[in-house]
Amino acid sequence: MSRAIELREVSKRYGDTYAVRRVSLTVEPGEFLVLLGPSGCGKSTVLRMIAGLEDITEGELLLGGEPASDVLPRERDIAMVFQSFALYPSMTTRENIAFPLRLRDPSTDHDDEVRTTARMLAIEDLLERLPAQMSGGERQRVAMGRAISRRPSVFLLDEPLSSLDAKLRGHLRAEIARIVAELGVTTVYVTHDQAEAMSLGDRVAVMRDGVLQQASPPRELYARPANVFVAAFVGTPRINLLEGVVHAPLDGPMALDLGRQRLCLPQPLTTDHQLLRIQQGRPVIVGLRPEAVRIGPPSQARPGEAAIGGIVEHVEYLGHEVLVHLNTGSRRAVVPDLESSRPAVDAGPARPARRPWIDRALHRVNSVVVSRSSAPGPAQQPAAVPPERRTTAAGDLVLRSGPEHRVRVGGHVPLLVDLERLYVFDHTGLRICPAPDRMPALHT
Ligand SMILES: Nc1ncnc2c1ncn2[C@@H]1O[C@H](COP(=O)(O)OP(=O)(O)O)[C@@H](O)[C@H]1O
Ligand SMILES: [Mg+2]
Repeated sequence: MSRAIELREVSKRYGDTYAVRRVSLTVEPGEFLVLLGPSGCGKSTVLRMIAGLEDITEGELLLGGEPASDVLPRERDIAMVFQSFALYPSMTTRENIAFPLRLRDPSTDHDDEVRTTARMLAIEDLLERLPAQMSGGERQRVAMGRAISRRPSVFLLDEPLSSLDAKLRGHLRAEIARIVAELGVTTVYVTHDQAEAMSLGDRVAVMRDGVLQQASPPRELYARPANVFVAAFVGTPRINLLEGVVHAPLDGPMALDLGRQRLCLPQPLTTDHQLLRIQQGRPVIVGLRPEAVRIGPPSQARPGEAAIGGIVEHVEYLGHEVLVHLNTGSRRAVVPDLESSRPAVDAGPARPARRPWIDRALHRVNSVVVSRSSAPGPAQQPAAVPPERRTTAAGDLVLRSGPEHRVRVGGHVPLLVDLERLYVFDHTGLRICPAPDRMPALHT
């Protein structure tokens, strides 16, 4: 039987610092929830509190609707799998899987249950092997077998794949999804890998610095990130985040000022764009996913697209698609807590990490060549950037393109931005466009 897990305002404090702060979250019976966030954000602590391996400082835990904060770990009917495969080195696979069963009932060898579990994990041919005679992936399967052999009501996995190589990770990820679906057991899975989270979870709960940011189905997390941190943490290549200012004159068209260029919001304004008017003059963060920008001249603009231009900084050929890194003369917005855990863009070694000197160079590029016209003009090409600065400035925009476009480094390209896929975050990082659902529409 699978049980619901409910955390009510749960906090964990070590001394003066909170590892987890007021997390409220319900995992439905049979649901597969993934806890996602950068290293150190409190994911394992949440898992360990559910398992009873850590005390809860404040708040309450319920399992199957019953208060469970004070229930002993072994009475919680929970199984946990860790990153490091906690197998008994002197026991064979058979003995390792049977171990929890024998603890409960030492009178038999539980051969049938062991076989069923081994079949489910496709490790029947490994039953007589010792851990040292198996690969990492095989050992992790056995560890999972040991965890699920007694059919727990809750299954907790803490980064179970992170010590495996990429190929094996992908394979076991699919296996885990299948096994958990077959078991139908309530599962909480911890990872710092957003791709893993998005591919596995019924819902993904994103944490940052001990605080739950958003818990949503993967699709919704990607399409409607609650704040700039979630937007940036989910999706590869990462969403482009640019510093902008809302330009909303009473008598003219609205635009987002991106430093050297402007994104003109198409008329008539959508409701979401109208709501931006109250931000007039305020700094915001403009978010554009790499698929929201395409190469094309202003004459090919579809309704809802705005024209800008960029200088190609770097091109990544990935076979099925091309990632084009551009300099549009805007400044990349920095999201704290994110930069240390994931590289800004998953680019190859050709692209160095963002360093202070690049920041300074980019800042110079922006501050030197900014030229604002009073009215937002169509398709302004970026002003000429001195070559030495062009090469030092990291691109501020990455777009996904088909292999049909032949772009060359250093060339100017006209760009079309799909403003229906525009995100705007306020200075605190909260999403204001598309407007959060709870925000009443001003013009209806
Ligand atoms: N036993 C402990 N004593 C003090 N601080 C701890 C302890 N365990 C974890 N922490 C701190 O709590 C925070 C969250 O840790 P953890 O839950 O392990 O993060 P994650 O699993 O997301 O990487 C970290 O800052 C970590 O250093
Ligand atoms: Mg951890």
